Amino acid sequence: MDSAPAVPAHVAIIMDGNGRWATQRGLPRIEGHRRGVETVRAVSRAARDLGVRMLTLYAFSVENWRRPADEIGALMGLLEHYLGRELDNFRREGIRLRTIGRTADLPAGVQARLREAEAATRHLTGYTLVLALNYGSRTEVAEAARAYAAAVAAGREPADAASWEHFRRYLYTADLPDPDLVIRTSGETRLSNFLLLQAAYAEFHFTPVLWPDFSRADLEAAIADYQRRERRFGRTSAQVQPAGV
Ligand code: FPP
Repeated sequence: MDSAPAVPAHVAIIMDGNGRWATQRGLPRIEGHRRGVETVRAVSRAARDLGVRMLTLYAFSVENWRRPADEIGALMGLLEHYLGRELDNFRREGIRLRTIGRTADLPAGVQARLREAEAATRHLTGYTLVLALNYGSRTEVAEAARAYAAAVAAGREPADAASWEHFRRYLYTADLPDPDLVIRTSGETRLSNFLLLQAAYAEFHFTPVLWPDFSRADLEAAIADYQRRERRFGRTSAQVQPAGV
């Protein structure tokens, strides 16, 4: 019997191209970010409708602090506004909000909104929106290594039996599943320090579409691309294909 190919449970997106979208139109870069927020709302809804259980969005990297101060300020303002505006919607639609990254370094207003939204949606289980904020994989690994070393010193972890299963519990993503599909928009084909370890077995989809233009149809195309892949996790094709297929 044919069964429908599985929808990826966890989709992670590197949202790229806001600045180019604006520049192409003779607009300030922040207009691209403003439109990018509208895309966040639409794509999050589309992902949920399509059966995705978790969506992780790379919203601000540890490297993004290198941008001009006015752009950083505008991005933080947009984030704070988005969180304030969406909270009722998260509650109504059963969306849990989570974050990964060094959120303690974000402006106080953003932190307050994040705490409020995370606390108010903690009990919701149908769909989770994860915002990667002040996130960088190498920072995450360095922090995890420090915490792991402290746990070994305190006798809470065995000194001679470090394993991935033990170590991963010290990452920001300790209780999150790995992404099944990683999408990057705007034609760039880099991971840019995003979920480097967690994406070890992810499928990748790169599209030239700039983030403000990324639509529900583009998400559907990425998922269809994913569904054509054969995920073997180190096994052979014969092992993962049911007999007779
Ligand atoms: C990349 O485009 C985008 C970012 C660095 C920020 C993404 C942020 C948002 C979409 C808005 C805030 C997020 C939420 C969740 C409300 P770029 O500026 O690097 O584009 P470019 O490469 O064309 O310059």
